[in-house]
Amino acid sequence: MAVRRLAPKEFQPDSFAFTAENAIWAGQQIAKYPEGRQASAVIALLWKAQEQAGGWLPEPAIRTVADLLKMPYIRVLEVATFYTMFNLEPVGRHFVQLCGTTPCMLRGAEQLKDVLKRRVGDERHVSADGKFSWMEVECLGACCNAPMVQINNDYYEDLTPESLEKLLDDLAAGKPVRPGPQNGRRASEPEGAITTLSDPSLFDGSQIGAWRQRFEAEAAEKARAEAEAAAAAPEAAKTPEPAKPKETRAEEKAADRPEVRVAEGKAPIAPAAKADAAEGVADEHKPVLLAKARGDGPDDLKLIYGVGPKLATMLNELGVYHFDQIAAWNEMNLAWVDQHLGAFRGRAVRDKWIEQARKLATGWRPASDVGEKPEE
Ligand code: FES
Repeated sequence: MAVRRLAPKEFQPDSFAFTAENAIWAGQQIAKYPEGRQASAVIALLWKAQEQAGGWLPEPAIRTVADLLKMPYIRVLEVATFYTMFNLEPVGRHFVQLCGTTPCMLRGAEQLKDVLKRRVGDERHVSADGKFSWMEVECLGACCNAPMVQINNDYYEDLTPESLEKLLDDLAAGKPVRPGPQNGRRASEPEGAITTLSDPSLFDGSQIGAWRQRFEAEAAEKARAEAEAAAAAPEAAKTPEPAKPKETRAEEKAADRPEVRVAEGKAPIAPAAKADAAEGVADEHKPVLLAKARGDGPDDLKLIYGVGPKLATMLNELGVYHFDQIAAWNEMNLAWVDQHLGAFRGRAVRDKWIEQARKLATGWRPASDVGEKPEE
């Protein structure tokens, strides 16, 4: 940042006083603050003084503001010299602030600077007719319309050397100019046609639950392909279905009862499991479930973002106790589990449980073991 000094003596007026109208305005600003806190109005008053003085802050104006606010001169000077919004030396009637920060620089700010140097002169130099002066500033927050300049209180964006030349010509001739993008685009909308989020179905609600339809379609397609393959295979090549072990038959029988026994043990599954056929994700996608937690007990499933006490209990009832169980699922396993989560359906997919569980299974833990629990 450039050194900020007061303008040399020859530029400084002998005195400064607010006009009657501005003095009333200043009084109103000061009155906004409680007794003893009048200094809080310092920026507002300096800004008004700068406006009245023609776009810059003469040293007597700084003293006037300090007297009004009963502040030491040095404190008001500190404020005036710190903020680049205050100009400490005279500026042209059209004061151009050229953004030279990276996005604007990459989009042609250097070429704009060449135009200003040629048309107006060096930085901070006021043109002979008093109409223009310019300075380079840091990002003005309009990077998506780079390169850009601020002239007095308005932004002029999407500039080229040619459009800046025209802008300066029009201002010099007193013609009206239009702030904003100078290349025809509206605000910071994409140039030309919209290229993203252009599918109307994204906004009409028809995509809600689309993931479930996709899973169902994939499952149906897989079943159809398997049926076709089985039908096409020669009769002799078909392997007879192996006899089921006794234990499995017992489980099948148990499935007709409210409590269903699962593959690796005897953990009961919630009656909701019976809804498979209606829900569309077939039982063949049921992941490996456990009768009880292994070894030292269950993992704290609540470390999975979006899983709270209720969901953790539901998962345990299903036979899910460990991160590595979830980490081993595929998308269809996830969908199968999800459809058994009652009012919490959709969470498993939305919150990417498999991804989370893979990370947690490595021993990684969130910074705070207690994350946000949006479940309940
Ligand atoms: S970089 Fe120029 S406005 Fe941000």
